[in-house]
Formats: sequence, structure tokens, C-alpha cells
Amino acid sequence: MNRQISIAIDGPAAAGKSTVAKIVAEKLSYIYIDTGAMYRALTYKAIQQQASIEDEAALMEILNSTTIDLQPGTEGQLIYLDGQDVTNQIRSSEVTNSVSIVSRHKLVREEMVLRQQSFAQNGGVVMDGRDIGTHVLPLAEVKIFLLASVDERAIRRHTENVQKGFPSDLEKLKKEISLRDRLDSEREVAPLKKAEDAVEIDTTSLSIVQVVEKIMDLAYERIGSK
Ligand code: CDP
Ligand code: CDP
Repeated sequence: MNRQISIAIDGPAAAGKSTVAKIVAEKLSYIYIDTGAMYRALTYKAIQQQASIEDEAALMEILNSTTIDLQPGTEGQLIYLDGQDVTNQIRSSEVTNSVSIVSRHKLVREEMVLRQQSFAQNGGVVMDGRDIGTHVLPLAEVKIFLLASVDERAIRRHTENVQKGFPSDLEKLKKEISLRDRLDSEREVAPLKKAEDAVEIDTTSLSIVQVVEKIMDLAYERIGSK
């Protein structure tokens, strides 16, 4: 059997991380871990419990008594919060607009990183997020930093919303994505940043297939064979 490596995929919102990470994981028969979904699940629970998302102690109390499981489903990954499927709920705009506040707390990040590392302890993992190559899996054999212009990323989210029949406003999406980029890049703890040894791919004018091919080439270089 080929060597099982770890692949870290970071980048800003709607750069295509989860779409390509899922395909790469499938091709290699690896597990896929969407770390953003974990921060979203905690944010969702905090909102449900009417906790302040500014209050680190309150968030930690919630997190310490919360299980977050990621399971493969037929149409993508399913997210379970304390055993309940919250896959759709965690994508609401209320959660999206609060998650970058929740994720800037140091203790919250420390606990999430421990959980993410335990998911990846046996290798054979494709993990996407903001700090995977820099903090969660600093020894990952393949590190990718995906980029795309804000305009392109907003169009991608807008198209996705329209396809799903969700209400969507392109200009509002541009503003929300830019704000989240800023909060995620400027936070003190583990900000969104390209790892020094990551390969940057600007996906603005690339198809999903082209991005997947580039990552698969890098993966096979490290695994040693096709
Ligand atoms: O899918 P999208 O790119 O919109 O975001 P996501 O990957 O679901 O991540 C949601 C938010 O969680 C991000 O905007 C970050 O604030 C936070 N996050 C993080 O801080 N670190 C990670 N490793 C993953 C996500
Ligand atoms: O995970 P992240 O937030 O980085 O992005 P995503 O949810 O994987 O991708 C956002 C949308 O962009 C999806 O609808 C993808 O199908 C689309 N996409 C694209 O149009 N072209 C690419 N090269 C990558 C993704």
C-alpha cells in the first residue's frame, strides 16, 4: 500500500477549499476534515444558547461539553453536534456572520486544534481551513494555499445560493466575504496566512478540475507513485 500522507488546504472563504479537498480525498481514499464546519458548529450552538460570542469563558463552557463529529454522507460531509445533524443549519448567514468572532478566541482555537489533530493522527487525511498548514498540521507533506479574487469568490457563493434556491445578494456577499477575510487575517491567534512551505494556487480563472489536478500532482510527488 502507498504511504498515507497529510494534505493541508488553506485559504479565504469560497476559494474552493472544501470542493477540491473533498474530491482529492475521494481520489486517494483519504478522510476529509472540514475544520470550518467545527467552528461553525460551535457558533451555532452558542447562538442557540444565547451566549455572547465575545465571551471566551462562556464559549469554552459550551465547547467542553459539546461533541462535534464529521461523517461522510452521499452528498458531502455531514456535521453532527451532540449527535444531531446540523449540516444545513451551520451554513445560515447568522452563523456565517458570527463565526469569525468565535474563532478568534485563543482557548477555543487551542481546543479545536487538539480535536483536529486527533482526527488526523493516522495520516491519510485532507484537511481544509485557515491555519492547517501553519498550526494544525505543520508537518503535512502537501500544503496548499488557495486564492481567488473577492469578486470571483462572491460570484461563486452567489451562484451556489441561487442553485440551492436560497436568497442571495451579490453586493452583500462581497462585503461579508471581505469583512471575514479581514477578521480572519488580522486576528492575533493563528491568522489566515500562507505557510512558508505551502504552494499557492490562484483559482480565479481555474476550473475545479484544473485545481484538483495540480493538487493531485503534488500529492503523487510525495506519495511516490500513482
Ligand atoms: O466555507 P467558508 O470558506 O465560508 O468558511 P469555513 O471554512 O466554513 O470557515 C468558517 C470560519 O471559521 C472562517 O471564516 C474562520 O473564521 C473560521 N475558521 C478558522 O478560524 N480556522 C479554521 N481552520 C477554519 C475556519
Ligand atoms: O471551501 P471554500 O469556502 O473555500 O469554497 P467552496 O465552498 O469549496 O467553493 C465555493 C464555490 O466555488 C463552490 O460552489 C464551487 O463549486 C465553486 N468553485 C469554482 O467555481 N471554481 C473553482 N476553481 C473552485 C470552486
